[in-house]
Amino acid sequence: MFDVHQIRADFPILQMQVRGKPLVYLDNGATSQKPQQVLDALMHYYTAQNANIHRAVHYLSETATRVYHESRGKVQELLNAAHESEIIFTRGTTEAINLVAYSWGLENLKDGDEILLSAMEHHSNIVPWQIIAEKTGANIKVIPINDAGELLLDEYETLLQSGRVKLVGLVHISNALGTINPVKEMIAKAHAAGARVLIDGAQSVPHTKVDVQDLDADFYVFSGHKVCAPTGIGALYGKAELLNAMPPWQGGGDMISSVTWEKTEYNVLPHKFEAGTPDIAGVIGLAAAIDYVQGIGFENIAAHEATLLDYATQKVQDIEDFQIVGTAKHKASILSFVIPGAHPQDIGALLDARGVAIRTGHHCTQPLLNRLGLSATARASFAFYNTQEEVDIFVDAVKNARKMLL
Ligand code: ALA
Repeated sequence: MFDVHQIRADFPILQMQVRGKPLVYLDNGATSQKPQQVLDALMHYYTAQNANIHRAVHYLSETATRVYHESRGKVQELLNAAHESEIIFTRGTTEAINLVAYSWGLENLKDGDEILLSAMEHHSNIVPWQIIAEKTGANIKVIPINDAGELLLDEYETLLQSGRVKLVGLVHISNALGTINPVKEMIAKAHAAGARVLIDGAQSVPHTKVDVQDLDADFYVFSGHKVCAPTGIGALYGKAELLNAMPPWQGGGDMISSVTWEKTEYNVLPHKFEAGTPDIAGVIGLAAAIDYVQGIGFENIAAHEATLLDYATQKVQDIEDFQIVGTAKHKASILSFVIPGAHPQDIGALLDARGVAIRTGHHCTQPLLNRLGLSATARASFAFYNTQEEVDIFVDAVKNARKMLL
């Protein structure tokens, strides 16, 4: 049974008052809050398990090593990867994309090759590719969108026909619009054209069941902090054949099997890509977060969030001048909006005065906002612990802000 009030009781921060009002946290696209179970796992690690991994035979090191390895298995299960060694821990989505860009990209891209990116990519799936394009002579092409914020699939197919596309970088769910992209179909088309595909799952992993084998994704990346885990931990999934063929990105301890002055042999997967002492506590926190969200169930999470988004989308119709940015048919958890004449930042500040936390700005998607003729939006983003009452408070606060600003 999904009981949102029972779930909320697990999150200490959700009990907080902000500016004398109960906190209404609708900035989940930026980061999620953390349940007590994750906080307890971190505390337990530091009070009863803390040691470096892979480096000693003592009790604590063996314990930390075992828990670290078990955590990788949880990420494998979360994404339904075929092999545990296909999961590489990173600092998050951004670092995972940079790893692929620097390792796979520098090795596989050459002058005249093409990298296809969608018009709704986050800067983290644009800038690393721009850097690599500059180094290799590859060119970036953009898959366009319509005004609703949906990818134009005919244009995508036309772009693939150039015969030069080596990589497609696609966001699964847009952080700025909420659009759910048809990634499975798009991956199949990319493969038919001989291209590899990297999926940015930063906004999908927290909201929906992801199956990398079913999608046939070559690379899939996400951040733990958006799915109830601590900041600073995330993962890259890559097909074993690709990761095995890729050179290491960072050198250091743990990623080697032997080192001499003449030659270094690299370690096997996944260690080849995990140089140095990793974020052991973060990995353990991520595993606890995965246990937590799996305990709730992704079907329940997706259904509750869809109800909230529908409810919010309906309620905001009452607000004069309210314009939703991103009206794709398939959407998840994000309500971006503008009220012409009212600056999003002023809306955000007035909402904050009522305890309502939203994000305002370009959401690290400046090319997308340029395409839509905007420089900023206000964005409410929902999680499974939000309630309809919170949506009501948000809508009232926006009405009030509009009245004050126009
Ligand atoms: N990418 C995160 C967001 O959309 C930080 O807010």
